[in-house]
Amino acid sequence: MTTFIRNAWYVAAWSKEIGRSLFKRRILGEPIVLYRKEDGTAAALVDRCAHKLLPLSMGRLVGDHVQCGYHGLEFDCSGKCVKVPGQDRIPPGAMVRSFPVVERYNAIWIWMGEPEKADPALVHQVLRHGEPGWAVIDSQYQYHRTNYLNIAENLQDPAHTTYAHRSTIGNPAASEVPVKVEQHGNQVVSWRWTNNAPPPPIDVKFGGFQGLTDRCQYYNYFAPCVSRVDVCTLDAGQEHTEENMDRGHRAFSYKFLTPETEGTTHFFWMHVRNYAVGDDALEASLIEGMTRTFEEDNVICGAIQQEQDATGLRQIAFLAIDAGPSRVRRMLEQMAAAEATPQEPQAAGTQRAKVNA
Ligand code: FES
Ligand SMILES: [Fe+2]
Repeated sequence: MTTFIRNAWYVAAWSKEIGRSLFKRRILGEPIVLYRKEDGTAAALVDRCAHKLLPLSMGRLVGDHVQCGYHGLEFDCSGKCVKVPGQDRIPPGAMVRSFPVVERYNAIWIWMGEPEKADPALVHQVLRHGEPGWAVIDSQYQYHRTNYLNIAENLQDPAHTTYAHRSTIGNPAASEVPVKVEQHGNQVVSWRWTNNAPPPPIDVKFGGFQGLTDRCQYYNYFAPCVSRVDVCTLDAGQEHTEENMDRGHRAFSYKFLTPETEGTTHFFWMHVRNYAVGDDALEASLIEGMTRTFEEDNVICGAIQQEQDATGLRQIAFLAIDAGPSRVRRMLEQMAAAEATPQEPQAAGTQRAKVNA
């Protein structure tokens, strides 16, 4: 049974990856070829010629058309065959599937489900992106060797940092305050505030905090494919309003998970912060530190995937720390199952009635 949810916008690529050449990437199990038309807008087709199935990415762009590298069939951006060398008649089956795409936040988003549901307003909104006083790190990509549900659980699981990230962000004195877990529709959030505590060194260095601080971590997961970890430090004793938090030392750490196959995931990440804006040295060290941290998770989740494949099991014992991760997995599995279930129960009923009549 598939774990994929198709009716959603997924990051297919960073904007800078797609130009006037053919770029291939497998998404939700489907081979996709992406390119830009002459007007600069992006297009996506299934990467499989309608003739003898050669990947179209092995061909070339001719104007706005993709020309297959085997016998030269040409397809427009809607997937319609517009040219068959050597014959005038274009056979009706000479079509390839096209996919809706939208470019936003320096990324190309693709809709793999029913095209009539592809509303661009449903692209996930990145908070504070492009606003004055906020810096963005984007165009970051890793290839993770695990099913996206294992990553979704990992991103909802603050308890692993002490052990899995010893060499990076792990801190044995990590907050002992337990996280609370809530679900609001298609969003799960695990969160905690640690109040009246001394600030960690990074906040002293870049936030200028001297006295006691209140700090929060919110681990949000928005189904099916967006994780946003919010961290904020502010002087203790203030109300925890959005305005006060924006005046504090705040960051949003985004991960966009795009399943490649049932065992591999494209891991795109982005980071939005309101401190050390314009500080290139800090930015380079943030990129280096986060890259290493996410690679540590990749090693762990990749090894877990291998054992899951070998045993057919997913987990043996369940702990209190699994509340958030399990909630996310359940939400995603339920959505995938609902999508896989044929809709229109009424039509099915009518059919049965006819058969029985
Ligand atoms: S396989 Fe593409 S034109 Fe023949
Ligand atoms: Fe981690």
